[in-house]
Amino acid sequence: MSDLLVGKDLKKSFPRGGKILKAVDGVSFTIRAGETLGLVGESGSGKSTLGRSILRLLEPDEGEIVFDGVDLRRLDGEALRAKRREMQIVFQDPLASLHPQMSIGEAIADPLVIHGVGTPAERREMVAELLDTVGIGREFISSFPHEFSGGQQQRIGIARALALRPRFIVCDEPVSALDVSIQAQIVALLLELKDKFGLSYLFIAHDLGVIKHVSDRIAVMYLGRIVQIAPRDELFRNPLHPYTKALISAVPKIPRDGRPTRRFETLKGEIPSSLDLPPGCRFHPRCPLAEPECRASEPELSEVAPGHWVACHLYPTRRRAVV
Ligand SMILES: Nc1ncnc2c1ncn2[C@@H]1O[C@H](COP(=O)(O)OP(=O)(O)OP(=O)(O)O)[C@@H](O)[C@H]1O
Ligand code: SF4
Ligand SMILES: [Mg+2]
Repeated sequence: MSDLLVGKDLKKSFPRGGKILKAVDGVSFTIRAGETLGLVGESGSGKSTLGRSILRLLEPDEGEIVFDGVDLRRLDGEALRAKRREMQIVFQDPLASLHPQMSIGEAIADPLVIHGVGTPAERREMVAELLDTVGIGREFISSFPHEFSGGQQQRIGIARALALRPRFIVCDEPVSALDVSIQAQIVALLLELKDKFGLSYLFIAHDLGVIKHVSDRIAVMYLGRIVQIAPRDELFRNPLHPYTKALISAVPKIPRDGRPTRRFETLKGEIPSSLDLPPGCRFHPRCPLAEPECRASEPELSEVAPGHWVACHLYPTRRRAVV
């Protein structure tokens, strides 16, 4: 598979109370054509900031975003607009992208109008097809967002993201706000659309169950950095980083008798703030395996097996570079 999107050493900080909050602090990754990269991590780890920086909805402070061979940060004006059509986002709260006074047909047509695609009649037909595709049905084209359930609103948000026929979509917790029974339907829809339109996803979630289901590869983020990135099965088989192990052990297990139990093992304390990053390995205050070295120096991502990268002093460096 060829590389569709490459992020190189991306950084994004926010000023806060006279200090600098490093929300994304040197992140590099690759998403191949047709691939879903899952991005998991606790609240505040910088997942949304990374997703928005990739699309330049937020301007990164440093780093490169190479989409289809072109560095997006070097583009502006019409060239940037044209590339942006190919990259869209689906939000956790679908109402964030739906204006309450616009019919869902108008909302879905909006990106087409902005980009000057088609005549009004052609746009109406495109929107009708999109409504059919996401399982809403074209007969609801004149209805308003509040007339729909949360799951249906998310289908409408997805139709809007698809309108410009993107190649890449950031799915930022697209099912986190939905009832569990509805989550599976929306996940199934996203997977179906991926095949149908040849999409690639950055799929952000804090639910490892969802991430495991949808991802080809998984990146684990902690306080602004990727601490582990590996193919999906490899990550679950070999969750080498102590933070990844803790995340996995916190997932409820369903034993044979059907009664779920929760095991919260190693994760001590709250996630610290990106405002006051611990020195050395930023996970050391919560890590059950921390050594003196961990307070002194920050581990870099290193490749421990083909395609499997871990940032932790426990694992000997084979190759230090960043994918
Ligand atoms: N626009 C902003 N201005 C100031 N600080 C911000 C802004 N956006 C995010 N932050 C801060 O950056 C850090 C990372 O936030 P972000 O929303 O990217 O995390 P997240 O991993 O998506 O979390 P969640 O799981 O809660 O969505 C947080 O400390 C947050 O408070
Ligand atoms: S580098 Fe040290 S503190 Fe950080 S995760 Fe590895 S063992 Fe834990
Ligand atoms: Mg977020």
